[in-house]
Amino acid sequence: FEEATKVKTVEYIEFGKHRVESWYFSPFPREYHCATLHICEFCLNFFVNKAELVRHSERCMVRCPPGDEIYRDDAVSMFEVDAKNQQAYCENLCLISKLFLDHKTLHYDIDPFYFYVLCEHDSMGYHMVGYFSREKGNMDNNLSCILVLPFVQRKGYGKFIVEFSYELSLKEGRHGSPEKPLSDLGHRLYVSWWTQRVLSVLLDFPDKTLSITDLSQITAIDPVDIQYVLENFKILRYSGGQFFLFTEKEFLESIRKSQGMPGRPVIRDNIHWIPHR
Ligand code: COA
Ligand code: NA
Repeated sequence: FEEATKVKTVEYIEFGKHRVESWYFSPFPREYHCATLHICEFCLNFFVNKAELVRHSERCMVRCPPGDEIYRDDAVSMFEVDAKNQQAYCENLCLISKLFLDHKTLHYDIDPFYFYVLCEHDSMGYHMVGYFSREKGNMDNNLSCILVLPFVQRKGYGKFIVEFSYELSLKEGRHGSPEKPLSDLGHRLYVSWWTQRVLSVLLDFPDKTLSITDLSQITAIDPVDIQYVLENFKILRYSGGQFFLFTEKEFLESIRKSQGMPGRPVIRDNIHWIPHR
């Protein structure tokens, strides 16, 4: 909380072909406090001077995140990076992402996390566009932190990442929920995705009586979050001493439309991942 009021340490970052202004304080070591920090988009090392980055790039052979590619489609890939094996990379990722996160304090012990790094791929390599972290062995939270880099926001990557986190939960056979508190943008993202997901299930099974437990089993969304969505949009109603779901098609469609564009879809069959034991 204290950190949110601190002044910015880095004003701008240059990342691949992008230049973007930072939003918040991030605890970079003092020698990196500067107007523009130059980041290698592949290995995430950073430099105060552009010339240093240029020299680095002549030698740097890294072209993808240091982990397993667990998803690939025609445009993007997802890599699973174990922070225990890739400390420097994951620490740099946290420092960079803190530039766009107001409320989270950085976890200083990152060993207990996996980082799932989303990249666009082309002939030059894998270009990071966002990531989420997930705490190993946490039974309640299927996502700790989520970031989409500002130059690719509002393109559906946030919803893609959220959907991906629930796909992993489905493979584990249990429901999950993001770690609280959520930022304003994080909250909007989740309400939008939860609503679209729950409504598409209700619209897919118009003749079936579905309970909140059924919805949770189909989607891996925590029943508490499902109930929040259903009450928020007055789909769950109380009448004659009973709760029921009001599932009139036009009504559900209008709510779904109010929640913006569908995200970039995750192709379930393209996920190659088995739960960690
Ligand atoms: N204003 C209003 N609504 C917004 C918004 C904004 N600036 N950004 C996202 N949303 C809402 C919209 O409902 C949007 O759907 P729409 O574009 O169809 O209207 C929905 O969230 C998801 O959009 P999407 O394109 O899938 O998300 P994104 O790629 O922009 O990523 C975040 C969303 C939250 C990951 C991104 O804003 C981010 O990284 N923010 C900084 C870090 C952060 O706050 N993370 C959450 C920590 S808990
Ligand atoms: Na500089």
